[in-house]
Amino acid sequence: MFELSHDHLPIYLTGLARRYGNIYQLHCGSTTMVILNSSEVIREALVKKWSDFAGRPDSYTAAKVSGGGFSISLGDYSEEWKSHRRLAHSALQRCVSGTLHCLIEEQALHLKQVLLDYNKKPMDLSQDFTVATSNIITKLAFGKSYEKSSAHLQEMHRCLNNIVSLWGSPWISALDSFPLLRKWPNPPFTRLMKEVAKRDELIRDQLDEVKQKKQSKDLTAPLLEYLQPPEGRVPKWTLTESHIHMTTVDLLIGGTETTAAFLSWTIAFLLHRPEVQTKLHKELRSVLKGQYPHYSDRHRLPYLCAVINEVLRLRPVAPLAVPHKAIRDSRIAGYLIPKNTIVIPNLFGAHHDPDVWHDPHSFRPERFLEGDRSCLRALIPFGGGARLCLGESVAKMEMFLFTGYLLRDFQFLPANPEEPLPDLRGVASVVLKAKPYRVIACPRA
Ligand code: HEM
Repeated sequence: MFELSHDHLPIYLTGLARRYGNIYQLHCGSTTMVILNSSEVIREALVKKWSDFAGRPDSYTAAKVSGGGFSISLGDYSEEWKSHRRLAHSALQRCVSGTLHCLIEEQALHLKQVLLDYNKKPMDLSQDFTVATSNIITKLAFGKSYEKSSAHLQEMHRCLNNIVSLWGSPWISALDSFPLLRKWPNPPFTRLMKEVAKRDELIRDQLDEVKQKKQSKDLTAPLLEYLQPPEGRVPKWTLTESHIHMTTVDLLIGGTETTAAFLSWTIAFLLHRPEVQTKLHKELRSVLKGQYPHYSDRHRLPYLCAVINEVLRLRPVAPLAVPHKAIRDSRIAGYLIPKNTIVIPNLFGAHHDPDVWHDPHSFRPERFLEGDRSCLRALIPFGGGARLCLGESVAKMEMFLFTGYLLRDFQFLPANPEEPLPDLRGVASVVLKAKPYRVIACPRA
C-alpha cells in the first residue's frame, strides 16, 4: 500500500522488518539501536523484562531540554525517577476518578459550539482539537482553559512544538553522537535553548499564579493539589518545585498533540468510510436514546470502542514510542542485548504485523468484535511496563467521550467533491499526525 521511504520512519522500519524479521539492529554512527517490530517481542522487552529495559538513553540534549533530568518521559530509570513517576501517576489517577469526566464533557460541549459556529463551512479542525485536549491538561494543572485566539495558549503551543521539532533536527542530535561539536556555535541549538527558557518562564508564571490563588483559597487546579503532600503527613519523599514544573511540561507535551492527532485521524478515516460513520451514529442513537455518552457506557457501545481501537491500531499516534535503554545485559527473543543498547519499540510495525492482523492495512473495526481476544492483546498503542504511557487512562476517557459527543451531534462530510479525501499516510515525527485537511461538520437533526 505504501512506498518504503525514510520520510516516514515507522513505515521504513516496518518495511525492514518484513525483510530482516521482527527484531533487528541498526548502527547509526557509534550508536547501536535494536528495533522491535511485533507485539510479542515488544511485550517481552517492555512488560516481561521491564526492569531490564526501563531506561532512557543518556543524552546531552535530553538533559538540557528536561531541566537537568527532572522530566518523567526523558529521565533515566532510578529510585528518584520511580518515586516521581509514582506520585505523578497517583495524582493523575485521582483526577481521573474525580473531576476529569466533567472537564472533558465541558470541553466537548465547547467544541460542539465551535463547530456549530462554523456553520457548515469546510474547516481544518486540527487546531480546535488541540485546544480542547490542551485545555483538559491546563484545567488540571493551572485551573484554567483558553480560547483558540488566546495569545498565551498560542505562545505555549508554538514554544512546545518548536522544542519537539528542533530537538528532532539532525543539527541537534549530532551533539549527542559527536561531543566535540558542542564546542562550536550551533544556531539551531541556541534557538532550542531560547525556546526552553521561554517554556520555563511560561510554566513558572502559571504555577506561581496557582500558588497565589491557593493562598486566597481560590484553588481549582486538582493535579497540582494532588502533587503536594497531604497536610499533616510526612511523606517518605516529596516532589521539588523542579519536579512539579517538569511534570506539568511532560503532561502538556504528552497529553495535547497525541489525543488531538487521534481525533483528526478518526474523522479522516470516517470521511473515507461513510458507512462506518452511519453505523456509529446508529449505535449511539439506539443505545443512548438522545443522551450524551458517559464513560461507564463504553460496554454498551462496542462499535464505538472498536472504531477507536482500529484508529489506534492503524495510526498509533506515538508510532515509535519513546526510545528505551537496556539497563543491564539481557535477551530479547533469544538475542543478547548488551547493557546501554537503545531499544525502539516500533508500535506502528507491531500494529501492521501480517502474522497477527488479517489484512493489516485495511480499516476494519469489526476485527475487534469477532471474539478474537488475541487482537486486543496485540494492540499496544500506549507501550507497556514501567514506561507505559502515564496518561493512558486520561487519553482513553478523552477519546471515548470526544468521539462519542462529536458523532452524536455531527455528521462529518468531505469539504467538497473536487477536493481529494484526506491523505491517510500522515506525517511522522514524534507524533504521527494526519496531513491538514478540511471537513464539513453538519449538525445532526
Ligand atoms: C509516554 C502513547 C496520551 C503522557 C507514552 C508512550 C506512548 C504513549 C507509546 C511511550 C511509552 C514508552 O516509552 O514505551 C500515547 C497515546 C496517547 C497518549 C497513544 C493518546 C491517544 C497521553 C496523555 C498524557 C500522556 C493524554 C498526559 C495526560 C505521557 C507521558 C509519557 C508518555 C508523561 C512518558 C512516560 C514515561 O516515560 O514513563 N505515551 N499517549 N500521554 N505519555 Fe502518552
